[in-house]
Amino acid sequence: MVFIFYFIKSLTGVFGVEDKVKFVDVMEGDSVTLLTDVNIIEKYTVIFWKFENNLIAGINTQANVVGVLCDKDRVKIDDRTGSLTITNTSTTDSGIYRVDIIINKKSTKVFNITVYASLPVPEISRETSCSSSSEISPVSKCELLCSVLNVSRVTLSWYNGTSLISSTSASDSHINVSLPLELEYEESNIYSCVSHNSIRNQTKHPDLGRLCQPCSGKTNHTVLAVAAGTLGIVAAVVGVCVSRKCRNTDKEGK
Ligand SMILES: *[C@@H]1O[C@H](CO)[C@@H](O)[C@H](O)[C@H]1NC(C)=O
Ligand SMILES: *[C@@H]1O[C@H](CO)[C@@H](O)[C@H](O)[C@H]1NC(C)=O
Ligand SMILES: *[C@@H]1O[C@H](CO)[C@@H](O)[C@H](O)[C@H]1NC(C)=O
Ligand SMILES: *[C@@H]1O[C@H](CO)[C@@H](O)[C@H](O)[C@H]1NC(C)=O
Ligand SMILES: *[C@@H]1O[C@H](CO)[C@@H](O)[C@H](O)[C@H]1NC(C)=O
Ligand SMILES: *[C@@H]1O[C@H](CO)[C@@H](O)[C@H](O)[C@H]1NC(C)=O
Repeated sequence: MVFIFYFIKSLTGVFGVEDKVKFVDVMEGDSVTLLTDVNIIEKYTVIFWKFENNLIAGINTQANVVGVLCDKDRVKIDDRTGSLTITNTSTTDSGIYRVDIIINKKSTKVFNITVYASLPVPEISRETSCSSSSEISPVSKCELLCSVLNVSRVTLSWYNGTSLISSTSASDSHINVSLPLELEYEESNIYSCVSHNSIRNQTKHPDLGRLCQPCSGKTNHTVLAVAAGTLGIVAAVVGVCVSRKCRNTDKEGK
C-alpha cells in the first residue's frame, strides 16, 4: 500500500506540476482545514506552509520538528499529514496559503481562502414619505429600499416570488449596500430581499401592509387596499404551493 502510494507520489513529482489554486470559502468563526493529501512515512519529509509568503508552520522529519510559528491557539499542523487547520477564522485570515511538500521531489499546493464576515439580515424601509409628495399629486408608487450595512463581498437582491428582479454587490471593503424596489399600491405579490455571499443567504420579506399604504389617508380606501392585499397574498401563497407541487411532481417524474 505504502509502496503504491509512494510510487504515485513520485510520478507526480516527475511531472513536476504545481497544483491549480484551490479556492476555499469559510464563514467567519468557522474552522478550515487545508489538506496536503500526503501521508508522512518514515522517509525524509519536509513540509512548510506560508501565508502571504510568510512561513507559518512546518514539519521536518529528519530534524524531528513539527511546529507552528504564529497564533498557536488557532493554527495547528497535523504531524501525520502536514495538513493545516485554522480554527475560529477571522476575515484577516483571507489570502493565499502555499504549502511546499518535499518527499524526494518538491510539490506545491496553493489555496486561496476567503473568510466571509457574518451576514446581516437585510433591512427594508420605505423610501418616499407620504407627507413630502402626496400633497401635490397622489403618489401612485410605493418605493422600498432594502439595505445591509457594513458588509463585504455580499450581493443584495430583490425577488418577486422566485424570480430575480434586481441585484447589486458589495466589493471587498466594508460598505453599506442598498437596493430600491418600486411597487404599485395594492401589490399582492410576494417580494423578498435577500443578502447572500457564496456560502449563506438571509431573507427579509417586506411587510407591505405596513410599508406600502397609500398616502391619501382615506380610511375606506386604505381598508380596501389592505383587504385586497391580504386576499392577494393568500392567492399568491396558494400559487407558490401549487407551483412547488408541480416542481416536485416533475422531479418524481424524472
Ligand atoms: C474567536 O475569535 C474572536 C476574535 O476574533 C474572539 O472574540 C472569540 O472569543 C473567539 N472564539 C473562540 C471560541 O475562541
Ligand atoms: C483569491 O480569490 C479572490 C476571489 O475569490 C480574488 O479576488 C483574488 O484575486 C484571489 N487572489 C489571488 C492572489 O489569486
Ligand atoms: C464594520 O465591521 C467590522 C468587522 O466586521 C467592524 O470591525 C467595524 O467596527 C464595523 N464598522 C461599523 C461602522 O459598524
Ligand atoms: C411581480 O410579478 C407579477 C406577476 O407574477 C407582476 O404582475 C408584477 O408586476 C411583478 N412585480 C415587479 C415589481 O416586477
Ligand atoms: C453605513 O450606515 C451607517 C448607519 O446608517 C453609518 O453610520 C455609516 O457611516 C455608513 N457607512 C458608510 C461606509 O457609508
Ligand atoms: C438560501 O439558502 C437556502 C439554503 O440555506 C437555499 O435553499 C435557498 O435557495 C437560498 N436562496 C437564495 C435566494 O439563494
